[in-house]
This record gives sequence, C-alpha cells and structure tokens, in this order.
Amino acid sequence: MTNEHLYSTDMSEKRPLRVVLAGFGTVGQSVVRLLRSHHSEVELVAICNRNVARKQSLPDAPEIIWTESIDDLLAQRPDVFIELIGRRSPAESWITRALNAGISVVTANKQVIAECGPSLLSLAATMGCQLRFEAAVAGGVPVIRGIESGLVADHLTGVSGILNGTCNYILTRMEAAGIPFDDALREAQRLGFAEADPGDDIDGLDARAKIAILAMVALGAAVTPASIVCRSISPVAAVDFPYARHLDCTIRQVAWVTADDSGGVSARVGPALVPMSSALARAQGSENLVIVTGRSGGDTTFGGRGAGGGPSAVAVVSDVLAIARGANAAVRPGPLTAITASPDFSAPFYVRFTINDRPGIIAAIASAFARHDVNIDAVLQEPGYPADRRPFVVSVEASPVAAVERALAEMTTFDFHVIAPFAMPVLVSAAIRSSASPGQ
Ligand SMILES: NC(=O)c1ccc[n+]([C@@H]2O[C@H](COP(=O)([O-])OP(=O)(O)OC[C@H]3O[C@@H](n4cnc5c(N)ncnc54)[C@H](OP(=O)(O)O)[C@@H]3O)[C@@H](O)[C@H]2O)c1
Repeated sequence: MTNEHLYSTDMSEKRPLRVVLAGFGTVGQSVVRLLRSHHSEVELVAICNRNVARKQSLPDAPEIIWTESIDDLLAQRPDVFIELIGRRSPAESWITRALNAGISVVTANKQVIAECGPSLLSLAATMGCQLRFEAAVAGGVPVIRGIESGLVADHLTGVSGILNGTCNYILTRMEAAGIPFDDALREAQRLGFAEADPGDDIDGLDARAKIAILAMVALGAAVTPASIVCRSISPVAAVDFPYARHLDCTIRQVAWVTADDSGGVSARVGPALVPMSSALARAQGSENLVIVTGRSGGDTTFGGRGAGGGPSAVAVVSDVLAIARGANAAVRPGPLTAITASPDFSAPFYVRFTINDRPGIIAAIASAFARHDVNIDAVLQEPGYPADRRPFVVSVEASPVAAVERALAEMTTFDFHVIAPFAMPVLVSAAIRSSASPGQ
C-alpha cells in the first residue's frame, strides 16, 4: 500500500498512521512520549532495539511490540519507519529496505543523509513514499521545512551557520570566562554538552555532514562530505578573543557552502571571526543558527536548540505528522551525481603568531605575505606578555585562502615561532566569496 491510499478528503475515513521505531535511546524515548500524545493521528505499533529486554519500559502500553529484529519491525507493514539508531551501518540498509517496501522513513541520521541522501530520496520517489530528515540538521530548528516551504521561490546561493552545539558551547564559554580551550571542553563534558570522545564535533566532521545536507536541500548540490575542508577549533586560544574584539569580532565554528553560477560549490567548516553585530555572534551556548541566502530574499535566519531529546523529537514527530496529514514529500530528489566542494574562497584573515621576540620579525612576516600577494591590514599587539612567548595578530586584506596558506607554509621555516601561526577567516558580510565566482 502506498501512502496515497491512506488519505481521504473525508476526515472521518482517516485511520491513524501505523508507525514503527528503531532506536529507543535519547531521541527515541522522547519521540515515543510525543507520539503517544498524538494517538488520534499516529499509532505506535512496534519498537526495535538491541538487547531489548533492558529497554522495555512502557507498562501502560502492552499493545506495543518490542523486538531486536528489523525483520519483525518491517513485517508489521507500517506506514512509517522511524530510524533513530544512528551511524551509517546498519541504518542505511534498514532505511533502504523500508523504502523498497514502499514504507515512508523519518530519520535523524546525518551520516546516512549526508552520504546517501540523493539516492535515498530518489528511491523514495520511485516507490511513492517519503523520506524526511528534519532532525538530522540543527535538531529542533525547522530549517529544512523552512527552506522547502518558505524559501522555495527564491534562487538560493548559500547557507552558513553554527551547526554544532558542542563547539558553540566551548567557544562561548572561552569568550565569557576567558578560560583555555581544554578547560571549556572539560566543563562541556561534565555538563553533558560534549561526548567523552569529542573529535567529530571539535574537528568539524559533525558540522560537515550537516552542511552537506543543507547544500542538497538549499542548493540542489549533491556534495561529497569528504570533499569539504574541515579545520578544528582546538587551536583557538583564550587570547584570540580579546584580539578578535579589537576587530569588532568574536569567534565561532562556522560551516558554510556557497554556489557559483556554473553549478560548482565552495564549502568549509572551521573556526572563524564573525562580527559582534552579526546573528552568528549572538548564538550562545549550545544554540544552533542557520542563515540561508537568496538572490531575491537576502538573508533568512533560523535559530534554536540544535540538540537534545526534546527538541530533536519535535522535529521527528513533526515529520511523522506531516505524513499523517497528507503533506507531499518535503525534499524532492535532486541530481544524483556527487560533486566535489571547492576549497577555494577569498576573505580577510586573522593570523595569530606566538613568538620568541627579537627585532626584524614583523619585517620577515610582511615580506613573506608580500611574496604571495597578501596585503597586511593591521598589526595588533596587547601588552603584558613575556618576550619569549609573545602573541600578536596580523590581519590581512581579503585574499584567496590558498595564498594565505602558502605564505604561512613558507613562514614555518622561521625560527622565532613558539606556537605555529594560526589563521582564521574573517566572515564579514559578503566577504566569503568563492574564488571561482565572477568578479573575483
Ligand atoms: N541526541 C541528540 O541530541 C540528537 C540530535 C539530533 C539528531 N540526533 C540523531 O538521532 C539519532 C539517535 O541519537 P540518540 O542521541 O538518540 O542516540 P542514542 O541515545 O545512542 O540512541 C540510539 C539507540 O539505538 C540503539 N541502537 C544502536 N545501534 C543499534 C542496532 N544496530 N540495532 C538496534 N538498536 C541499536 C541503541 O541501543 P544501546 O542502548 O544498546 O546503545 C540506543 O538505544 C542519531 O542519528 C543522532 O545523530 C541526535
């Protein structure tokens, strides 16, 4: 049975949507609570989890079937399969099996959608069912819905945002308390804002999957996630915040993707300076924020809680209810051919040097930048640091990232560095430009 058969213009003929769920963890448990409050529209039939005996916790719902087997789950002939086990395997094959059986899928799985979204959307369209994944990007923030229904008339040219609450928590704590990166990370772990192994968050892999999904939804570009350059926030030091303030900026992990006129995209994830007056600077703690840019509508900003069982469950159950209420597929299948994101872009840069001081250092740095056509804008030096470990900052005018990186590579041979130079782009409005875009 396809979903179309479920709906009737006569409301009295509607029966509740039959739903099964895999993954009774943080999000799964919140989803079950919320689904049960919508029992007139949705009937939860079965739950699958490994070692399921320790998970069975709904004595007031004896009708729900508990199982460890995906075969049992799909054998219930549900209308919708909710996938909340996470990771690529076996989630990808479970989703594929459901779609092949004509069962609509709602998932929060960013890895699966970032890697296989276009082919799974195409399969769903072929089978006459739906694939929805609002919770996979920015948790409870309805950015995919917003793009698909509210911005569909525009020609969208870029998406940027704060897509990882762990990084935003760490950076905003460093900013507010003047504490080192390691202290802010430990605090985030103690309070449950960071995993015991935070590598995917701080090195940018989590945000990379999400910006790849947003490239698909907003720009119709099937970007290979691995082609998106990621820079870790771990080199950000407490001293970078007062220096950033001299430039009227603060520091955030920003993910962005921009489209050029020839169908190419430029994308990156990493720490960046953002103006204090910008929406990105106002995102505090574990908040997420997404800015979608269109030719006619300019910038549209979506913000809110990017993670947590409650907000993510709202996104999942809203997707389920959209299907129950007869909405058409939210995201339509786009091109199946994956493209490589260009690492090229131009922006002003902030470069922090930490040196063992002696005469001639500024001249050596200025000459190295000049050899790569990079123009210095300002040199900032706060007093009070010891001469043998002195941080100072050079800001450079808008330059191609490749030129800045070549100049810094040349400077690694200088013997005055105590810590390797650390560069971040300065994301003033309209400063991120694909190097391939016209007018460059
Ligand atoms: N947590 C958030 O704030 C958040 C926000 C947005 C999106 N998401 C996404 O939502 C999904 C679920 O996240 P979560 O935080 O709820 O994870 P979680 O707490 O680890 O829950 C996953 C559940 O799935 C079960 N599971 C894992 N692999 C399984 C398998 N092969 N077979 C059967 N059961 C399996 C786990 O069982 P065990 O108890 O044995 O581990 C656990 O109960 C992920 O894709 C995640 O990226 C999470």
